[in-house]
Amino acid sequence: MIVVHTIDALREALTPHASPAFVPTMGNLHNGHIDLVRHATTLGDVTVASIFVNRLQFAPHEDFDTYPRTLAADCERLAAAGCNVVFAPSETDLYPVPQTFKVQPPTALADILEGHFRPGFFTGVCTVVMKLFQCVFAQAKGPRYAVFGQKDYQQLMVIRNMVKQFALPVSVVGCPTHRAEDGLALSSRNGYLSAEQRQEAVALSRALRALADAARPVLASSAAPADVARALAALELAACQALDARGWQTDYLTVRRRADLQTPQVGDELVVLAASRLGNTRLIDNMEC
Ligand code: PAF
Repeated sequence: MIVVHTIDALREALTPHASPAFVPTMGNLHNGHIDLVRHATTLGDVTVASIFVNRLQFAPHEDFDTYPRTLAADCERLAAAGCNVVFAPSETDLYPVPQTFKVQPPTALADILEGHFRPGFFTGVCTVVMKLFQCVFAQAKGPRYAVFGQKDYQQLMVIRNMVKQFALPVSVVGCPTHRAEDGLALSSRNGYLSAEQRQEAVALSRALRALADAARPVLASSAAPADVARALAALELAACQALDARGWQTDYLTVRRRADLQTPQVGDELVVLAASRLGNTRLIDNMEC
């Protein structure tokens, strides 16, 4: 495995390869990332991971400065997982001049849920992902693969839509969320939790499951659309209140249509999604149901 820091060095390393499989990350890798890398090794003729904490997707009050940077440990894990090339640019390597050209995702998809509570987040994500795709895939002649986790459900959907609308020659591959034994979705931010908070954190996936169980009969009924919407809103409110009563501060805990993350109607395929803060740590999770 080689580690490169500049776009030129990355392109040189990838010159002999027709078909990269790429896993973009912000580092501080856990087993969920390693699943993505292992899956990527089955797809292309070279496996590339990027490690870059992307300032563009953090609001000023968020954890950009404290986000753990663990390059040496990450590289060990990536090598063991079968990664061939790590791209770990500095900010000036990737953004030598301020990145004033940006990718603006549509508000209907990007200003709801995560985008509502983190304004500009998906613009930052799309901009860096588009740029990383240019760095990794520009010279490829064969199929190009990009692997993302379903834990960031809305992110995966935004990126799939971006790839489609820009006709990028990239297959976006989603991989299932890796959960700890108690059901907590693995996340780099779990490392911020105290031992006590780590025990409590399982309540988030339980809340998702409980809301899914409560919502399914409503969506399987023959109720009118307005009644469905009213019943779901009541269930969501009760679910948020129950979680907050345990000491969480919930941004959203909601049932949506899988296709576009809007309010579902009878017959739609469903996903439940949540973002909630435990102490200073904001966790997200989702479940298709
Ligand atoms: O999911 C992440 O870690 C980031 O949003 C990504 C896709 C690497 C872009 O910075």
